[in-house]
Amino acid sequence: MASSNPTPQVTAVVGCGTIGSSWAALFSLHGHRVVMLDVSEEATLAGRDRALGLIDSVVAHDLYSAEVAERARQLLEPASEPSALSDAMFVQESVLETYESKAPMHALIEEHVDASATIVSSSSSLLPSRMQQSLQHPGRFLLAHPFNPPHLVPLVELVPGTATDAAAMESTVQFYEAMGKIAVVLKKEALGYIGNRLAAALWREAVHLVDEGVATVEDVDKALYAGPGLRFALMGQHLIYHLGGGRGGYREFFEKLVPTAGDPIIADLAKWETVPDSARQAVIDGIDEFVDGKSMEQLEADRDARLVRLLKALYPKEGT
Ligand SMILES: NC(=O)c1ccc[n+]([C@@H]2O[C@H](COP(=O)([O-])OP(=O)(O)OC[C@H]3O[C@@H](n4cnc5c(N)ncnc54)[C@H](O)[C@@H]3O)[C@@H](O)[C@H]2O)c1
Repeated sequence: MASSNPTPQVTAVVGCGTIGSSWAALFSLHGHRVVMLDVSEEATLAGRDRALGLIDSVVAHDLYSAEVAERARQLLEPASEPSALSDAMFVQESVLETYESKAPMHALIEEHVDASATIVSSSSSLLPSRMQQSLQHPGRFLLAHPFNPPHLVPLVELVPGTATDAAAMESTVQFYEAMGKIAVVLKKEALGYIGNRLAAALWREAVHLVDEGVATVEDVDKALYAGPGLRFALMGQHLIYHLGGGRGGYREFFEKLVPTAGDPIIADLAKWETVPDSARQAVIDGIDEFVDGKSMEQLEADRDARLVRLLKALYPKEGT
């Protein structure tokens, strides 16, 4: 659960949209003073309001106490000038997903924070080494990729660029673990990091199955969430198959279940690199039928309510 930090560490969130406001809520719930900055005062205040709404929702879900939430609300500091970043020792950048948007923002952050402050980007697809090329102090920079919404989903993928210092990575791991996040450190950068690469492989096949007329969108989703998805919340693909091999584990799994002459299922999977037009249309039509008029707000509220119940069951102590 949340820590009550007597002398709050100052963190900054730059870019206060969907992801930035969720990070701000999480950091403040864990006792950090959070300087929030966006392109305009209006956008910053809108981000602060979103963070306040998220803080209300975690109290309603009984994840944090009313007292912790009240303190968190006081710790959100919307800023009108970048000079407000000067006290921050950790900066989470969450602006638009292009190198062109992020580079000037990183330059602005570097202009105002101490050379020893750590700067991380929430990017979900860009490469940290390329971002480091325009930094004055690239050693203190890395990527910290969350899964939406970061104030609830535990995973954060930490991706070093070629210039990232080991000390910056180590202190970033400690920063997130102190608030109950599960930090995975990549040994080197890879497009899509880990989670989104796995998701891309699964998504391509989910689209292909609908396009081929094998099943509806609803049934493809059910076949995931009511079966393999339940296990994915507990353990990953490697450990699942290790257990699937019987007493001989992964070694036996390969001997018994993976044909040496090639796996016919793998050979039959979709191979395309661009979504075929027919597939695009099939899943768009199929999702409309599946959600049957439910609003995005209803779907999100349902997702978050289920997510909270699952998190409480799986991570009862951390409760994040
Ligand atoms: N949405 C997701 O599911 C998700 C998940 C993981 C990571 N991310 C990553 O998080 C980052 C932010 O994504 P988002 O979904 O919150 O986007 P968003 O559009 O909701 O928010 C982006 C924010 O950045 C602000 N912004 C744009 N240009 C800016 C600038 N020059 N200076 C300061 N602020 C600026 C915008 O005003 C907006 O508030 C992206 O890098 C994205 O890839 C998103």
